[in-house]
Amino acid sequence: MCGIVGYVGPNVDGRALDVVMEGLARLEYRGYDSAGIAVVDTARDTVATEKRAGKLENLRSALVTHPLPDTSTAIGHTRWATHGGPTDANAHPHRGGVDGKLALIHNGIIENFHALKRELLAERVAFSSETDTEVAAQLLAREFERTQDLTMAMLGVVNRLEGAFTLLAVHADAPGVVVGARRNSPLVVGLGDGENFLGSDVAAFIGHTRHALELGQDQIVTITPDGHEVITFDGEPAHGTAYEVTWDAAAAEKGGYPTFMEKEINDQPQAVADTLLGRTDETGRLVLDELRISEDQLDAVDRIVVVACGTAAYAGMVAKYAIEHWTRIPVEVSLAHEFRYSDPIVSPRTLVVSISQSGETMDTLMAVKHARQLGALTISVCNTHGSTIPRESDAVLYTHAGPEIAVASTKAFLAQITACYILGLYLAQLRGGTYADDAQAVMKELEGVPGKIADLLTHLDRVKEIARFMADTRSVLFLGRNVGYPVAMEGALKLKELAYIHAEGFAAGELKHGPIALIEAGQPVFIIVPGPDTPHELHKKVVSNIQEIRARGARTLVIAQEGDEDVVPFADEVIRVPHTSPLLQPLLTIVPLQVFALHLSTAKGLDVDQPRNLAKSVTVE
Ligand code: AGP
Repeated sequence: MCGIVGYVGPNVDGRALDVVMEGLARLEYRGYDSAGIAVVDTARDTVATEKRAGKLENLRSALVTHPLPDTSTAIGHTRWATHGGPTDANAHPHRGGVDGKLALIHNGIIENFHALKRELLAERVAFSSETDTEVAAQLLAREFERTQDLTMAMLGVVNRLEGAFTLLAVHADAPGVVVGARRNSPLVVGLGDGENFLGSDVAAFIGHTRHALELGQDQIVTITPDGHEVITFDGEPAHGTAYEVTWDAAAAEKGGYPTFMEKEINDQPQAVADTLLGRTDETGRLVLDELRISEDQLDAVDRIVVVACGTAAYAGMVAKYAIEHWTRIPVEVSLAHEFRYSDPIVSPRTLVVSISQSGETMDTLMAVKHARQLGALTISVCNTHGSTIPRESDAVLYTHAGPEIAVASTKAFLAQITACYILGLYLAQLRGGTYADDAQAVMKELEGVPGKIADLLTHLDRVKEIARFMADTRSVLFLGRNVGYPVAMEGALKLKELAYIHAEGFAAGELKHGPIALIEAGQPVFIIVPGPDTPHELHKKVVSNIQEIRARGARTLVIAQEGDEDVVPFADEVIRVPHTSPLLQPLLTIVPLQVFALHLSTAKGLDVDQPRNLAKSVTVE
């Protein structure tokens, strides 16, 4: 989720630099832990670069004290770290070749960069960063030596890369040329008059042209001031999809969505897919090299405690069911602020897993520090590279949801659940036993989930309609069992945060122990129904829970799998989700509840991205 800009045009009045810096400013929300720019310096027959960790302002200040030469050809990048922390050295662009005449920027994850790096190290190529991007830059420089053509060099490299990537490159020997390539990561062309643009989205160039060209999967584009050429990764001529950009600049920063939250809900397929990327080797075995805890230490773990707050804690509750099932290790989920002061029972064989999108939540940070003081092993599941909680942990498992701007967490929640599944499957694989063999099968099923989320997102118009005519509702209840229980809790939290109304999630089995007294005529209740193939007859039990509340007048809003007809007689509304195996269902069942909360809040005219009283990261205890 990095910001990428490319420009080629007349070398006048510093236009190239101005265009790239303006584009980076519009894209800064996409990634903001470092920024950099590269220009082709024809006068000195080289590529000049400037890059800084931190906000774009740091780069802007550096350019004042270290101005770059005028140019016709420039690329720029704001980074959301995936490999390597947010440092000057890891910032893009990365240079390639002994003469440093090539510069490359990258958005995405190159899964096979370790093997490629070993190949280059064997040729005594020197590296100055920890990034996968620098490996691609060195490969491209080596290929350019062979082809003396940047487009052909790019063609030779992209076919060796696995994973998701958008690449932009410039070379001192090819002034007036920027070459881009994309696989599983966006890249659009801005078509100007005597100048052309590239961007990770149209916000990069919307101030200069509304004529755009969307590139397709596995395509390479070469732009010059007078035109562009598109080829496939097979070298065949191709054409992008031309369109006129109708968004204004503000909408462009949200990918055309009215709010960051709606954009982030729709980013969820990519967030899950990116979090899964690079976690298995060529044989399909799980490899978590960033975990940096010895297998012996992990093998000795006899208890897991998850510490987190809010939405992250509900991701932990989903993880509990999955990790216990696959590893048979007892998992306890403790709200971080409770764990910290509960005189917890912890030993060197306790694994404390913290979950945090921001990596700065003080309650969670204090819990991690306390756990370490008590001798526990600590792993951070975090979405923000280089943040405090991973630094205070023994190891980290990063989610790759990209920056989450809206205060109410959505895509980070799905990425956290995905990362916890990966951790649980890794532990199962490590410890052998029943589920070691299943780990690869579950990973295979997980790889199909992003597509199911994307499909589900196109079938939620009824949910939006329900939300609009429930705009005046004063209370909504949410029921679920097993992994549906934390989904009910999260659905209620979304509604509280966004629509400021009473909402409460319950374990459906708890109804008869008190909460059913809340049911009165017309009381809206969402019920998350497990798939009919869920063990222990949970499906049947939840269907009878629906009957119980329907008999007392509740308005039953049922979330059920496609094909589940048992729920129909007792449901005022049935919201269908695609089938997955039981433990993976939260990745889908939460989506209609997110969309419901978003649209009810919108119907009430509330600020969806910045709800009252809330902060994106709670850095006080
Ligand atoms: C969720 O929508 C809220 N923004 C909040 O509950 C959040 O999940 C919680 O504060 C934890 O934040 P973290 O993931 O950054 O640690």
